Amino acid sequence: MDRVTPSLKDKIMTAEQAAKIIKSGDTIAVSGFTSVSYPKAVPKALSERKDVKDCTLIVGAAVGDEIDGALVRNGIISKRFGHQSNKDLRKAVNAGTVQFSDVHISCLPMNMNQKTGPAIDVAIVECTAVTDKGLYFGLSEGTADAAVRNAKKVIIEVNESLPMGLMEMHDVFNVGLPPKARIIPIKKPNDRIGHPYIKIPKRRIAGIVMTKDLEPGQKFKPGNDVTEQIGKNIVDFLKGEIAAGRLPENPGPIQSGVGSVGNAVLETLASSGFKGLSMYTEVMQDSALTLLDKGVLDFISTSSVALCDDTRERFFKDIDKYKDKIIIRPNEISNNPEVVRRLGVISLNTALECDIYGNVNSTHVCGTKMMNGIGGSCDFARASRISIFSTPSVAKNGAISSIVPMVSHVDQCEHDVDVIVTEYGVADLRWKTPKERAKLIIENCAHPDYRPMLQEYFDHAMEVSAGKHTPHDLTQALSWHQRLLDNGTMKED
Ligand code: COA
Repeated sequence: MDRVTPSLKDKIMTAEQAAKIIKSGDTIAVSGFTSVSYPKAVPKALSERKDVKDCTLIVGAAVGDEIDGALVRNGIISKRFGHQSNKDLRKAVNAGTVQFSDVHISCLPMNMNQKTGPAIDVAIVECTAVTDKGLYFGLSEGTADAAVRNAKKVIIEVNESLPMGLMEMHDVFNVGLPPKARIIPIKKPNDRIGHPYIKIPKRRIAGIVMTKDLEPGQKFKPGNDVTEQIGKNIVDFLKGEIAAGRLPENPGPIQSGVGSVGNAVLETLASSGFKGLSMYTEVMQDSALTLLDKGVLDFISTSSVALCDDTRERFFKDIDKYKDKIIIRPNEISNNPEVVRRLGVISLNTALECDIYGNVNSTHVCGTKMMNGIGGSCDFARASRISIFSTPSVAKNGAISSIVPMVSHVDQCEHDVDVIVTEYGVADLRWKTPKERAKLIIENCAHPDYRPMLQEYFDHAMEVSAGKHTPHDLTQALSWHQRLLDNGTMKED
């Protein structure tokens, strides 16, 4: 089968020709999610142009260095919407040279569809193929559907290295706009509700570029004793819930957040004895494919298949085996709180820091420096059946306590956090009052080096706080972060 239907072959052009379609000041929306299936050739050609500046970029989550790196370094992108993780973009955001706005992943496509933001001049999307029916995306969907739906012009990169088997894995569904927005009829993670392609009128296709390069595979820090213990604590907690009759034998579906901790936590599920679980998540990492192979998982609904080089090769080779075990969905569906609540998803996300009352900061180091963005953590946390946040108890060789008196930025407020887990244990915060939560978090989750300091802060706050419901000493609540900035450690002399 042809990758490009004969009626569209006249649209084929070089990446350089396609890059010329973009003008200074344009708003560009691209495909890609967790640096998977983003366009590469056109951005590369664009980065070499000296006459394009001040563009705005919209994308669901991180894209590769060809976009978030090179376009930023060359001054082409000055504003960025959506989760990111590129070190140069992060540097520019924190230096204030790129303006960045972080949005819940489920809301970004909704906002694009509702046209509340900048008009999208050009969409650039990577696809497996373009047929008379429409576009078939690659290894991720992210906000690519919203980009295609709303852009004045669409440039398509057809990547010939993507296996054609991917064409059957997608499920595009247009929710539509209120008051006519549709109910999303997903009752099980494997329910297909839409089409594997998105329709597009020929007149909006500005160009098709044939490519062959795949992005570099994902890289994870290998798991260690700490992440393994966090994983074991989560598994023990879930088994305790099953034993108590609060969860069924096969709990879930499970959502698991991005990053090394999330990947390592899922790995521990492999030896947990669980079988036949499912995932309803936004990104499946290496560990999820292994769980599928071992029968721990029997189905994964995701928005991105984010694998290391070797695992991706295995996935491509055996794609027929996975076709009825994986669905790739757009973010508006993969992260939709309506579906997450109905399915009873158990969400597993990672915190940078948690405070003694259960508020979570996943994004801002010391309250001011952006790390990556909230991604879909809040989409899942608030709507999930059990919202679990894990973190190693300390960071930077113990100089930072991940449990602090008050978080320096709030992403998930205490009302959206059910359970906090570190390598030391589990704080089950459900049905607990703030002071009961503080006791559990300090005793079960804090690192022993910081436990006495946290207890001292809490006892002192009980004495001086104006209100005794959630006691704080506002003059000291952020002193741990200030000490870290001043001395390089949260520890006292
Ligand atoms: N203060 C400062 N730095 C901290 C920190 C803290 N309290 N806690 C962790 N860090 C640093 C680590 O030292 C590490 O730095 P390094 O890369 O220089 O070694 C970095 O943050 C990443 O931490 P790590 O422990 O390796 O975890 P991770 O790769 O799992 O990432 C998050 C953790 C929180 C950054 C990541 O999960 C994230 O971005 N989450 C928000 C988005 C999200 O939850 N999406 C979920 C839906 S997919």
